[in-house]
Amino acid sequence: MKALITAGGRATRLRPITYTTNKHLIPIANKPMLFYALEKIAETGIKEVGININPGEKEIQPAVGDGSRWGLKISYIEQTGGPKGLAHIVRNAKDFLGDEPFIFYLGDNIILGSIKRFVDKFVNENLNVLLAFARVPDPERFGVPVISNGKVLRVEEKPNQPKSNFAQTGIYIYDHRIFDAVENIPPSPRGEYEISDANTYLIEKGFNVGYEEITGWWKDTGKPEDLLEGNQLILHDLSDIKNEANVAPGVIIQGKVKIEKGTYVGGRSLIRGPVVIGKNCMINDSYIGPYTSIGDNTKITNTEIEHSIIFDNAEIKCGKRIVDSLIGHNAVIASSADSLPLGHKMIIGDNSVVEL
Ligand code: DAU
Repeated sequence: MKALITAGGRATRLRPITYTTNKHLIPIANKPMLFYALEKIAETGIKEVGININPGEKEIQPAVGDGSRWGLKISYIEQTGGPKGLAHIVRNAKDFLGDEPFIFYLGDNIILGSIKRFVDKFVNENLNVLLAFARVPDPERFGVPVISNGKVLRVEEKPNQPKSNFAQTGIYIYDHRIFDAVENIPPSPRGEYEISDANTYLIEKGFNVGYEEITGWWKDTGKPEDLLEGNQLILHDLSDIKNEANVAPGVIIQGKVKIEKGTYVGGRSLIRGPVVIGKNCMINDSYIGPYTSIGDNTKITNTEIEHSIIFDNAEIKCGKRIVDSLIGHNAVIASSADSLPLGHKMIIGDNSVVEL
């Protein structure tokens, strides 16, 4: 079996972060989101992985490399013509996939627990397709299966009136029949070749389409609050909690806290885990509260931060309390009292969101 992982698309709901960072490289607990997908695939024993990228993509390849760090062999596949839908990704990867069954894994999904049991079910039950569903409160955001007597009748993409409270998650296993589907479905009203339509096509042709429910935690990280929740979840399960920081006397560190080499924590600081802090940071007179991830080379002074993701090289020195926030690379949040006239002073990129 091979795997095909998505790392293209437009990620408009995560702007302005995604103007400069590929969504799949956004750090979750200080690790690029895409790495979680690669770990899940490696756990199944699969060795050959294709990563779908947008034409001209330059960030993903150096960040991920050849796959050897996970024991994988990675090929990068440019999506000819750009992001035209999930079924288009599969069609475009036909030469790479050949006739072997494969896992199609959406690189912006985060799932806890192994996906090996999906592979086992696909093989043991001789399926042509295995879909992984999860119960969600807002199925209209997803592909939604219509199920009757334990059988999937069709999958409807983002329906106004969902016929079940299941979401199609970002894990699909296919055999070669999928190529018949992705070559024959028309584009949807939103102009994309929908994987839900390909699935419905195969069901209607009578192929053996099974499903499995994900009962543990699963998240499609489409919106900023999803990223924060994903970060929370991964930090909650943090097991590698080595503290390699230089910590001044008087600093208090509580709970699960991982801090990397070269970081200094001083002054009247309190770090209350679960928290991860990267390399070469300076934290002074600050409170870093639960569910916060702080990237490398970041400076934080006289600030309180909780339930947030701070990317590399940010500088925060504002004397305020920051919660539920995503702070991008090289961002600066300073105190307006440091310069005249008094008042909030901002350089805010397109599509930024600030709550004062
Ligand atoms: O996350 C599960 C949902 O994923 C399913 O419930 C839906 O049925 C399925 O259509 C998909 O919906 P999304 O709207 O969340 O898909 P999104 O556009 O976010 O793309 C999913 C992944 O595929 C993401 O890694 C970006 C990548 N992508 C997307 C498109 C449309 C590409 O690489 N190329 C593309 O053409």
